[in-house]
Amino acid sequence: MADDMTDEIEPQGAPYRGPAAHDPEPPAPNHDDDPDYVNRTKFLSMIALAGGGVMGAALMVPVIGFAFADSLKAEDFRWVDVGALGDFPDGEVISIALAGPAPESDRGVYIRRKDGGLDAIWSRCAHLGCPVGYNPGSDAYACPCHGGSYDSAGRVTAGPPPRPLDRFDWKVVNAAGNEVAVNTEARPDAPGDIAAATDADRLLIGRPYSIDDEGRPFKLRTPGYPVDGVLSNLYPFN
Ligand code: FES
Repeated sequence: MADDMTDEIEPQGAPYRGPAAHDPEPPAPNHDDDPDYVNRTKFLSMIALAGGGVMGAALMVPVIGFAFADSLKAEDFRWVDVGALGDFPDGEVISIALAGPAPESDRGVYIRRKDGGLDAIWSRCAHLGCPVGYNPGSDAYACPCHGGSYDSAGRVTAGPPPRPLDRFDWKVVNAAGNEVAVNTEARPDAPGDIAAATDADRLLIGRPYSIDDEGRPFKLRTPGYPVDGVLSNLYPFN
């Protein structure tokens, strides 16, 4: 029995015959100098940036659209026959209701015929849109809402309106349908000339437009909207 146990013991100093040792793990690659490598931190930063960009756009697009939609919107109008030129006697200001392109867009217009010229002025106050009244005694327009006043050509003389009254293009056609007088973007100091027309010819009112204090024509703006200057670019936030 004692002899068998002696046979199984390795003598001291014998070579190791146990399981082989594993090779060491290779070192992790270093991407510090690789600008194209996306590690987890970089990936999360990109996600956060992209999310912020989407949220920012979602907020800004409606805001910008709200600010500029009105100035970019096409003007809707159609030519409307408002009667024979003889219905608008020289020296008088006649108020008419003009059918707009849609039922809700009917407009009040003052037709002013004087000394061979003609003006078509929108009765909508340039402040907040109240209908202005014409006073033959003072030959001027006044707004009942906040005291806005305009002279005979619709230029502001008092009160809060930021610009003159808006105006309309007009034209006069004869019985054959030919244009005998046309006026586009007339300025307050130069009403359109109707010398070539007769009282039997028809007056048509067309595209509305806005003007500034110097009478320069602009694309139609809503009431309260300045047509020029820095503030006109910030509407409706000014
Ligand atoms: S709406 Fe005319 S002055 Fe205000």
